[in-house]
Amino acid sequence: MKVKHRAKILLIEDDRNFLMPLKEFLESRGFEAHISSKARDAIELSRHELYDMFIIDQNLPDMEGIELAKELLYFQPGAATLIMTAYPDVKKAVRAMRLGVINYMIKPFAPEELLDEIIKTLELREYKNLRELHNFSLRKEREKICIIGKSRWAQEIREFIEMAANSLDTPVLLTGETGTGKSLVARAIHYNSPIREKPFLVVNCAAIPESLLEAELFGFEKGAFTGAEKSRKGVFELANGGTLFLDEIGDMPIPMQAKILHVLDSGRIRRIGGEREIKVKVRIIAATNKNIEELVKKKEFRSDLYYRLAVLSFELPPLRNRREDIIPLAEHFLRQLSRGNHYELSPEDKEALVNYDFPGNVRELRNIIERALILSRRKGVLSIKELINRSPFRENIRKDESGTSERFPPLEEVIKEHVHRALKITRGNKTEAAKLLGISISTLKRWLKKWSN
Ligand SMILES: Nc1ncnc2c1ncn2[C@@H]1O[C@H](COP(=O)(O)OP(=O)(O)OP(=O)(O)O)[C@@H](O)[C@H]1O
Ligand SMILES: [Mg+2]
Repeated sequence: MKVKHRAKILLIEDDRNFLMPLKEFLESRGFEAHISSKARDAIELSRHELYDMFIIDQNLPDMEGIELAKELLYFQPGAATLIMTAYPDVKKAVRAMRLGVINYMIKPFAPEELLDEIIKTLELREYKNLRELHNFSLRKEREKICIIGKSRWAQEIREFIEMAANSLDTPVLLTGETGTGKSLVARAIHYNSPIREKPFLVVNCAAIPESLLEAELFGFEKGAFTGAEKSRKGVFELANGGTLFLDEIGDMPIPMQAKILHVLDSGRIRRIGGEREIKVKVRIIAATNKNIEELVKKKEFRSDLYYRLAVLSFELPPLRNRREDIIPLAEHFLRQLSRGNHYELSPEDKEALVNYDFPGNVRELRNIIERALILSRRKGVLSIKELINRSPFRENIRKDESGTSERFPPLEEVIKEHVHRALKITRGNKTEAAKLLGISISTLKRWLKKWSN
């Protein structure tokens, strides 16, 4: 592993005769060196500057070097840290390592020796940080995906996740109304499976225009169509070895359904304009909030694909059919969203929650709790009952002819979704996305800024 940029080092040493030449030496070797002769000043500096490395003398006038390392690493845990001492002490060295200090050097030493150790320490840091980052994000993912609920249903879904996580060769189909947890369950299956360290990619089949969906899924070769200046991999190739979540599969156009079926049967894909088939090994999870059996009857969804997907399937019930889960979920979201503050639901809040039908299901419950918390920060009280009466989901529900509820989204939500779709298609390129949307880049930036708050 290489240390890529000009590393910024904070050097803490009370002996000026040693400090100044060392600073010059480090600068001559391309580092950016800041100095401090007191622990207190170093702590102050570390509040304003982000460092790649701390080099600390063990004997400082106002604090022991190890204790200073502990303070500095508390704020900047990613920094590489090296302690220098004239009096080596094994116990102290061990303690330093436990605190996250990477290296220990015994004085006196030649500047070149220090240079070697700095490079080694920085490389070790990269390795350590990469590993920690990786573990951290996996851990975070797993924390985020715990399935809350004490109903019989919640238990069943946990068992289903475990089973599905260990049957990698069988595709999974998740159905249920909007907001019931399909996307969450899809992630849970991936992150509990043996391929959890491999990619988990999502394609929202409803959000991508038919003309682009094939390119998104299978990629294309250079020159396959006008504008295809370079060849590009599709998500099937990108997700190789991992999981591909085909969300809103009920909205997938019929011709594309045939192609998905072909991949499931053969384990091979063909890029648009490609000559040969490419082998891929991808676990497929599909989800839809549509009544897929109805779609099959109406010939809007291929029955052969449906049967292929439905081997391992689960229908997530609406929240109103498992009211025992409402309070545990509400308390979970309160804990999760309250940033360390402690809130309790009043008996009236609980009653209002349990008696409400939640047409937007768990997502609506989460929104209500989130808004209650924001309002309580301003007003100091949680007013869940009031919020339920004003829930936008409530007004936006209209019954269609068949009697099924369908949420009618507010305009801003539709715009937001459309913009995100454009960004996805252009792989995050804002200039391209603005062009696609027919708006100026500044409008796009303004919207994104607004939504990021
Ligand atoms: N049992 C659960 N425990 C904890 N959180 C949940 C549970 N079920 C759903 N959620 C949360 O509720 C929200 C909505 O869930 P999710 O996005 O998975 O719904 P969905 O079924 O995919 O909806 P849509 O059909 O609109 O895509 C998410 O924030 C999710 O984390
Ligand atoms: Mg979803």
